[in-house]
Amino acid sequence: MLTILFIKNSEVIITMCGIIGYIGTKNAVSLVLSGLKKLEYRGYDSAGIATISNKLVVKKDVGKIDEVFSKIDVSNIKSNIAIGHTRWATHGKVTKENAHPHTDCKNEIAIVHNGIIENFKELKEELIKKGHVFKSETDSEVIAHLIEEEMKNKDFVNAFFECLKKLKGSYAIVAIYEKEKKMVAARKESPLVVGVANHGFFISSDVPSFIDETKKVIYLYDGDVVVINNGLKIYNNGVEVKREIDSVEWDAEQAKKGVFKHFMLKEITEQANVIKKAIAQDDDIIKEIVDSMKNAEGIYFVGCGTAYHACLEGSYIFSKVAKLHVNVCYAHEFPNYVHFLTPKSLVIAISQSGETADTLTAIRAAKEKGAKVISIVNVAGSTLVRESHKVLLQHAGPEICVLSTKSYTSQLAILVLLAYAFVDKLDEAKSKLKELIRYIYYLTSKNTQDYIKKLAEILKDSKDIYILGRGLQYPTALEAALKIKEVSYIHAEGFAGGELKHGNIALIEKGTPCIVFTSKDTESDIISNAQELKSRGAYVIGIGPKNNDVFDFFIKVREAEEANSICQIIPIQILAYQLAILRGLDPDKPRNLAKSVTVK
Ligand code: AGP
Ligand code: GLU
Repeated sequence: MLTILFIKNSEVIITMCGIIGYIGTKNAVSLVLSGLKKLEYRGYDSAGIATISNKLVVKKDVGKIDEVFSKIDVSNIKSNIAIGHTRWATHGKVTKENAHPHTDCKNEIAIVHNGIIENFKELKEELIKKGHVFKSETDSEVIAHLIEEEMKNKDFVNAFFECLKKLKGSYAIVAIYEKEKKMVAARKESPLVVGVANHGFFISSDVPSFIDETKKVIYLYDGDVVVINNGLKIYNNGVEVKREIDSVEWDAEQAKKGVFKHFMLKEITEQANVIKKAIAQDDDIIKEIVDSMKNAEGIYFVGCGTAYHACLEGSYIFSKVAKLHVNVCYAHEFPNYVHFLTPKSLVIAISQSGETADTLTAIRAAKEKGAKVISIVNVAGSTLVRESHKVLLQHAGPEICVLSTKSYTSQLAILVLLAYAFVDKLDEAKSKLKELIRYIYYLTSKNTQDYIKKLAEILKDSKDIYILGRGLQYPTALEAALKIKEVSYIHAEGFAGGELKHGNIALIEKGTPCIVFTSKDTESDIISNAQELKSRGAYVIGIGPKNNDVFDFFIKVREAEEANSICQIIPIQILAYQLAILRGLDPDKPRNLAKSVTVK
């Protein structure tokens, strides 16, 4: 899966897209088309496919994948090699000509590309001077012409290697050549995986695109170049390398929406099961991580977005349960802050995707200082997994929705386990969390959803929503605000209850919706905050174990102490989802956002 942060005329565009290739003994066109459909959740503005049946055939157009391929029937093309692409434009408008695949002058070479070729302008000028005729405005098309140019004195595979040396920027590329039924591919800063089926090979941006055909996956490294002829060979820096064949632990069903209209709701309802999986962690890894924490001089939790909120929540949990001080820092700020790190320091990075550029930069800066890096990650085989000294996999299953929901509560459960293990009470933590599973299932149930829908109806036209919490509920307030704003586009701001009188109260007017998280530990202070809000006319929503007259709307979430952060965010996840639906938005494809921000 690739997302690109592209800054054009000071406008920041985060794009994401998907590519897939297949070469083997089955019908390549149908496999690539069905694979593209499974990459569609990441958005598209145009799509295309290239295949070889005697001649190279390229079919592409603007629109959704179904729209594109209803207009251009490819089902009658029998071939055992094909490549496909869903595009989020970065260079060149959304037009049929700019859709991928792109070809060379002779229409013998076809390529699909994820990423940005930063030096495409100079390459294009050089190639035009050499007589190449371009058909598109894209940066990607230079790849096809570069290979063509290099083939004037070398074969397809070597021409591809030479072409890569000339490219600057980020890429995941798959290319085919009419005269040699081979497939070549390469990745640099853009994730690319190989699917190893018993009938052939897939090369794709993301595992869901071929999970129906195989669970055997090779996670490619930056700089890897793949050549598939009869067999598969992988090179890095011109030398053949061996890459491990992993087995994906989840099955095809989990990467589909099933009975759900959106991945977001499906993944919210999976959380009881996700907590069960988090509890079933390998105790030895938990204990090894705790030992590393005990031996460290300075511990730093780093992450971005929701993962950062998990880091912040973790600091409260470790303080309360383990009486341990951990530092917390946004991953993107950490490189400016690492001057004091020593080889005795420990950095714990939290990331669902394991591909967040800011988090990777943070751990690389830490490693330069000799610090030890441990990561809590959901995606096995991700770059963060490979670059950490020790990894604790979340086993939360694929999280397809752009919003982090189940991966967040999974991270929190793991942090609870680690904090209790720190004081040799791992079993106590497991039983506490196990006892919650049934309740979490109830929190994600249809009747909870129906009740919260009443609140969504009340809030759906709000301009601003303010969210307060104290102690463990402060990070929950931040996460709640992020959920609401990123999927419903309603401005939402979370802050610590104690901050209300230090400025935020100036924003409260008659009818301003304010959500207040309460708990046993913080009740008296946070209820005072609620009363201050009420006295200024706010519409006050309470979430917690005990109702109160001050609340205009109340969502009961039973007391769960350190696990409050797990239980109390679930109603907000549901609220955010329902606000998006009521506002006519697609919760799985929020504007401008991407599942993994793989560039800074
Ligand atoms: C949260 O809903 C967003 N998807 C985003 O803030 C996300 O948490 C952040 O980009 C970090 O992603 P990661 O966990 O994959 O590193
Ligand atoms: N930069 C290329 C284009 O604009 C690829 C974009 C993408 O990754 O989809 O066509």
